[in-house]
Amino acid sequence: MKILIAGGAGYIGSVVIPKVLDRGYQVDVVDLLWFGNQLPKEVNIKQTDIFDLHEKDLEGYDQVIFLAGLSNDPMAEFSPAKNFISNASSTAYLAYIAKRAGVKRFIYAGSCSVYGYTVNELYDETKPASSNYPYGISKLQGEQAVIQMQDENFSVIAFRQGTVSGYSPRMRLDLIVNTMFKTALATGEIIINNPSIWRPILSIQDAANAYVRAIEAAPAISGVFNIASGNYTVGEVADYVKEAVEKKLKKKVKLNIKNIQDFRNYKVSVEKAMNMLSFKPAHTVESILDDLIDNLDKFKDFDNPNYYNIQVFRKLN
Ligand SMILES: NC(=O)c1ccc[n+]([C@@H]2O[C@H](COP(=O)([O-])OP(=O)(O)OC[C@H]3O[C@@H](n4cnc5c(N)ncnc54)[C@H](O)[C@@H]3O)[C@@H](O)[C@H]2O)c1
Repeated sequence: MKILIAGGAGYIGSVVIPKVLDRGYQVDVVDLLWFGNQLPKEVNIKQTDIFDLHEKDLEGYDQVIFLAGLSNDPMAEFSPAKNFISNASSTAYLAYIAKRAGVKRFIYAGSCSVYGYTVNELYDETKPASSNYPYGISKLQGEQAVIQMQDENFSVIAFRQGTVSGYSPRMRLDLIVNTMFKTALATGEIIINNPSIWRPILSIQDAANAYVRAIEAAPAISGVFNIASGNYTVGEVADYVKEAVEKKLKKKVKLNIKNIQDFRNYKVSVEKAMNMLSFKPAHTVESILDDLIDNLDKFKDFDNPNYYNIQVFRKLN
């Protein structure tokens, strides 16, 4: 099987791709390399924009995975116009040329942030998705664009991923668990803006397994799927981080709890992905922290701007 991954050199792609290669599939990547390249040598990388691809570039691929675009709220708010172009239009364009070129499946890296601010209710994929902020709106636009292209010859699997965390060779320290872990170590303090809001957390290892399940799902399967390892309150995540850093790294950590209103609050059900894709989350915030501790030597240079998407993006624009 031959797979093209757009945005494959990013945080998620750098963990997904070794797993996909391990299963014997051929992987090519299209990526602007904003954060460099830490992919295995056998991956053929084309440093180009999705918008510069043409239908003929997609010929011969069985599946295409979209992992590109602007991948958090600060980037989207820094440049809302580029956010909408990138997250809504580049997704639609890539799926459009993929379908025309005869690709059989398109897998989309969407986000649970499409749920915006919900009441304290477990959300499955049938619940209303709506957001008032550029990132959430654009991720929903991207999802809707690709989902409506599905038919009997073109399967579309659109993930709504929780906040991903854990170690990747292309590291990010701007994602909830990773950020708290870094600040606990760097400053001895975790600032909690609002301890009571809910977030689905997705271990990067569970995320990579979800992509493998999607690649290997029966051809008739299409749809939107929530993907998370579990739902946690932000206060609870901070407790796990404090405990792991104090017990395993012997550093005292203070919690600094504020009560700032947050515009996102949601918990999701992953039952559909479990039933239809056989996705079985195997990780927790505690095992994400073990992963971070085991790999700490590889990202101890906490000030490296590459670990913070907004810092790199500001320089590019
Ligand atoms: N990380 C998370 O917590 C999370 C959660 C939900 C959804 N997502 C989605 O998953 C995807 C991947 O996230 P990530 O954390 O790996 O992001 P990332 O920022 O680490 O990687 C994105 C990659 O895409 C590339 N890229 C961006 N625009 C491009 C374009 N037009 N053409 C070619 N390459 C382009 C960048 O160079 C980068 O390597 C994104 O679509 C993001 O919105 C991420």
